[in-house]
Amino acid sequence: MTKKWSANSWRSLPAVQLPAYPDTNALEEVENRLSGFPPLVFAGEARKLKRQLAQVAAGDAFLLQGGDCAESFAEHSADNIRDFFRVFLQMAVVLTYAASSPVVKVGRIAGQFAKPRSSDFEEQGGKSLPSYRGDIINAIEFEDADRLPDPQRMLMAYRQSAATLNLIRAFAQGGYANLAHVNEWTLGFLKDSPAGHRYQELAGRIDETLAFMRACGIDPETAPQLRATDFFTSHEALLLGYEQSMARLDSTSGDWYATSGHMVWIGDRTRQPDHAHVEFCRGIKNPIGVKCGPSLDPDELLQLLEILDPENEPGRITLIARYGAGKVAEHLPKLIRKVKSAGRNPVWSCDPMHGNTIKAATGFKTRPFDLVLREVSDFFDVHQAEGTHAGGIHIEMTGQNVTECTGGAKAISDADLQDRYHTHCDPRLNADQSLELAFLVAERLKSEREARGLPTRVVAVGE
Ligand code: TRP
Ligand code: MN
Repeated sequence: MTKKWSANSWRSLPAVQLPAYPDTNALEEVENRLSGFPPLVFAGEARKLKRQLAQVAAGDAFLLQGGDCAESFAEHSADNIRDFFRVFLQMAVVLTYAASSPVVKVGRIAGQFAKPRSSDFEEQGGKSLPSYRGDIINAIEFEDADRLPDPQRMLMAYRQSAATLNLIRAFAQGGYANLAHVNEWTLGFLKDSPAGHRYQELAGRIDETLAFMRACGIDPETAPQLRATDFFTSHEALLLGYEQSMARLDSTSGDWYATSGHMVWIGDRTRQPDHAHVEFCRGIKNPIGVKCGPSLDPDELLQLLEILDPENEPGRITLIARYGAGKVAEHLPKLIRKVKSAGRNPVWSCDPMHGNTIKAATGFKTRPFDLVLREVSDFFDVHQAEGTHAGGIHIEMTGQNVTECTGGAKAISDADLQDRYHTHCDPRLNADQSLELAFLVAERLKSEREARGLPTRVVAVGE
């Protein structure tokens, strides 16, 4: 009954959140060029990520997914990428060590450029212009010309993604992520924060463990498990023209893959089962994320799963719940029960960012950090009650010392937001807040694993 899929079958379906390009010839020309470019990632890597996510679904690992809300052309520097990667590694190592759980590492990076918007237009000083939709589409400056969708931006996004990915691959495989360097990942400004101290203590224990292992004959320089890590990329599959141009038929499997990143997700605003975004994603074999907000009812979710994952394949689907603190218990259990009763076992992940966005009295869009922590706790509570695995978190974060989310151990206030508010879209956790969150998750994950009789260390960390 299902119609045949092709890389362009989405084009005949209704689509929301896609820009209207003024020059369709220029658009076509760019899309044709992109489709001749080398893939950014290769199919075998996407399959490897799927296998790792299958381990998460089975309860044997944890998914850490995070990065910018939106990457930008202006802030593309080695320092930026490195600082993000350092904090990400710190979070990963906290989870791996303190909860004794393998961590699947997925960045919102090297392709996270397109943004869905609640309104097509933005008003400023009596003037109305098309909304900013991310650097891959138009520019953030509030000028007529800047807000016109420009297809050339797709080429720039492709090249930036390639350069970012190149550096990250070097970091992940070339020695920077070596566990012998746990002490060097700490950023200067973290040294005098509570989370920073806690991290230093944990890093000290890892050092001690490595010294012991060296004495036993296992050296990080010769053991690839200690010297390197697998790091994957992901972004929202929003700009379908770009995604189609980057889709490739994999010659080893005969299947289609998105090669713009290892994993892509469908946003809460573009998950209509009969629309273009779901159509495109059903035909590619990558791991797929689906954002689940308050308006998603259990039957619609099942329908989506049947379309996106007809073979019920382990690791294929990650459901990313984003409800807001205090609302998880109202929405999530219904979905879990329905999905379980249909014999499905997706990865359950928690996005504690998007349901907790508020406007501060100062006018800045912000997220109170205590609400972020609370939503994560709620998420673990629900899974504990349902007997399912709290499989992962999906967060917006940066390695920069920004002031975008209020609260945290350094107690950023509404008045502090103006100091270093740099995001191109939503407010991100800074390094301190990210690390504090990692410690909370590690504690919850450790209890979950203990309750299930999985191996965890006897001594608790940071106490
Ligand atoms: N290879 C293991 C892993 O990726 C251990 C590891 C090496 C690691 N470098 C790391 C873990 C950096 C976390 C962070 O899990
Ligand atoms: Mn966002």
